[in-house]
Amino acid sequence: MNTATIAGSLLMALISQSRVQAQDPYPPGELGKTVRLGETLVRETNTHPLTKPYVGNVLQCTSCHLDAGRDLKAASFIGVASVYPAYSPRESAVITLEDRILNCFIRSQNGKRPPNGSQVSVAIAAYITWLSKDVPIQMNPKAPLGPNSLRPLKEPAVRPDLARGKSLYADRCSACHSDDGSGSDDGPPVWGHNSFNDGAGLSKVPKMASWLKVAMPPGEADLKIQEAFDIAAFVNSHDRPRFQQPINAKPQRNK
Ligand code: HEC
Ligand code: HEC
Repeated sequence: MNTATIAGSLLMALISQSRVQAQDPYPPGELGKTVRLGETLVRETNTHPLTKPYVGNVLQCTSCHLDAGRDLKAASFIGVASVYPAYSPRESAVITLEDRILNCFIRSQNGKRPPNGSQVSVAIAAYITWLSKDVPIQMNPKAPLGPNSLRPLKEPAVRPDLARGKSLYADRCSACHSDDGSGSDDGPPVWGHNSFNDGAGLSKVPKMASWLKVAMPPGEADLKIQEAFDIAAFVNSHDRPRFQQPINAKPQRNK
């Protein structure tokens, strides 16, 4: 083992040790109430009165950040607070945790951007920061991504193929997400007007493939890399809402 590997395993040990457990109590007092509200908003984003006005589809944060970001594998929120402020190539600016949260509202949630410092923004940031307790601060100069972000997959040997993707989707996905991608009682829409927009991370085939590999089907994520790319290419070959950069989307203070 070289020094980097040892340091890496120590960090992983620290992170897994510090992982917030389901039964962990929220902090006392007002802070705890805010953390709890943040978790509720992450689980009920499209229906809660505080967040509903900012959501333009039927998804919730927990639709992609599984178990409200507590699932370590699928775009986990654990440790995310430790990397901010971080440089974001997408915005060519240094952004805060709140900015990163609000970006998911305008892209993945196809909605509007709640104001920085609003109750929504502060509560979700408080929840994610609580989930990040004891993770050492390590600001990220390259990307606004935390220590448990999705691991990018190597491009498969064979180019992603829509016909293979279509038949795999019929076998493994359509029972819950329906043949026309519009979703059902058992799974949210994956394309069409109620889905995330084309500015969302999952609208990019490699990101969708990495996420599918660890997240779908729920509880039995066993797709091979080639299958994950084929299905991701098929899903993202359909129409979804167009991303429109809101006037107030960019953090202005670094300009
Ligand atoms: C359609 C799926 C989807 C939805 C819905 C969604 N996100 Fe995301 N989000 C992603 C993906 C994909 C990433 C990039 C994750 C990666 O590369 O590890 C991401 C990244 C993030 C990050 C940075 C994560 C990290 O590892 O540093 C935060 C914070 C975040 N989202 C917050 C939210 C919040 C809060 C909501 C609800 C308001 C939300 N997201 C809704 C898909 C989604
Ligand atoms: C047993 C039902 C089921 C199956 C099968 C299934 N999913 Fe899902 N899927 C869900 C549920 C439920 C969620 C939301 C997760 C949550 O709320 O915990 C979800 C979330 C998603 C999301 C993110 C949210 C969204 O709707 O955009 C995508 C993308 C997705 N699934 C794609 C797939 C693909 C592709 C397959 C096939 C490989 C698949 N799923 C198989 C139930 C299913």
